[in-house]
Amino acid sequence: MENRTQNISEQLFMLLNLGREISTTTNLDMILKILGDTARDILKADRCSIFIYDEEHNELWTRMAHGVDEIRVSADVGVVGKAALSKEVQIVIDAYKDFRFHQAVDLQTGYVTKNILAVPLLNYENKTIGVFQALNKKEGTFDNIDAELLILIGNYASVSLENALLYERLQRSQIKLINKLSEAAEFKDSETSAHTKRVGLYTQLIAKELGKDAYYCNLIKLTSPMHDIGKIGISDEILLKPGKLSEEEFNVMKNHSEIGYKILYEKDDEILRMAAQIALEHHEKYDGSGYPKGLSKEEISLAGRITAVADVFDALTSQRPYKKAWSFEEAISFIKQSAGSHFDPAVVDAFLKNIEEFLQIKQKYQD
Ligand code: C2E
Ligand code: SIN
Ligand code: SIN
Ligand code: FE
Ligand code: FE
Repeated sequence: MENRTQNISEQLFMLLNLGREISTTTNLDMILKILGDTARDILKADRCSIFIYDEEHNELWTRMAHGVDEIRVSADVGVVGKAALSKEVQIVIDAYKDFRFHQAVDLQTGYVTKNILAVPLLNYENKTIGVFQALNKKEGTFDNIDAELLILIGNYASVSLENALLYERLQRSQIKLINKLSEAAEFKDSETSAHTKRVGLYTQLIAKELGKDAYYCNLIKLTSPMHDIGKIGISDEILLKPGKLSEEEFNVMKNHSEIGYKILYEKDDEILRMAAQIALEHHEKYDGSGYPKGLSKEEISLAGRITAVADVFDALTSQRPYKKAWSFEEAISFIKQSAGSHFDPAVVDAFLKNIEEFLQIKQKYQD
């Protein structure tokens, strides 16, 4: 009993420290690591892992785990699955004699599980979002006090996970919204969603070749598909005309750059700022002969210069109501010829170095 009391004050101290430590950490994986390490120390366990419940597949996967790479298990078997589905704490005294225990993971990792404590992580709606597991207590086996402690630490994990999952969901729906916006232009136009997808991937490749960092490459992949959004402001008569546009009609068509900019521009949003700039500048030309402003060279943003090459390559190799698709050879040689006039030569070089990848993207995402 003496020993237990001493233990508890030690544990309380660690818990207080934990609160302080995670309140100053914002990265989910770091928070989970701190929680896993603390649980291991407090419970005197050999290992801990934090599983996330994937409801769609009825599986659990480790977002944090000591000693092993990511593990994915069915929620229908094993102690972790039992904790997830029953929403009840599972204490296993002797794993290999316990019907709840599933040996598959041990067989896969070579680890020998002796005893287990698994507590469900529940959100504010009392739905399972994950499971916190501790393995192999150093002395003795896990008891109810250990379970209470892990539930307490698990509460931190639940709150952190719930916030992070909500944020990730929000981000996913934001990206979907952006893609829908790009597609909105296509309802009116003969361009397809495969076209916008390809332009995104092409611009990402070129940016990578130019040595831009992963953040920039992702940003341009996300934003360049919106370059023609302004076409929703152009009448069908012009947009869908099967033949060549008159000068007057083409002048109207040229407004799509500025219309797109006005639709997209949002001062405080980095993604929409880049999207707007690309919409505005994707028909500018390196020698200053483009529209709407006749900017030249570095007056045109890098994103605008990259998207110009990606867009024209894709437009040339695609069929339009007004033209047949060009062959790859014709399109490549046109782009080569236009280095220094229409296009930034450095961007053309980066394009030429990745021709194989361009062709693969074109194959993979067909109209
Ligand atoms: P788009 O079809 O997406 O074409 C994008 C850009 O690819 C064009 O910008 C142009 O730079 C290049 N491009 C596409 N097809 C050809 C081609 O056959 N030859 C050459 N040399 N370049 C080509 P641009 O010229 O500023 O046109 C912007 C948009 O205006 C086009 O987008 C398309 O929607 C429309 N458009 C342009 N010309 C015509 C036309 O003669 N008839 C019709 N119906 N629409 C046109
Ligand atoms: C960048 O290089 O990050 C952007 C520069 C530009 O848009 O010109
Ligand atoms: C770069 O950042 O790589 C070039 C930026 C520019 O030329 O605008
Ligand atoms: Fe355009
Ligand atoms: Fe386009």
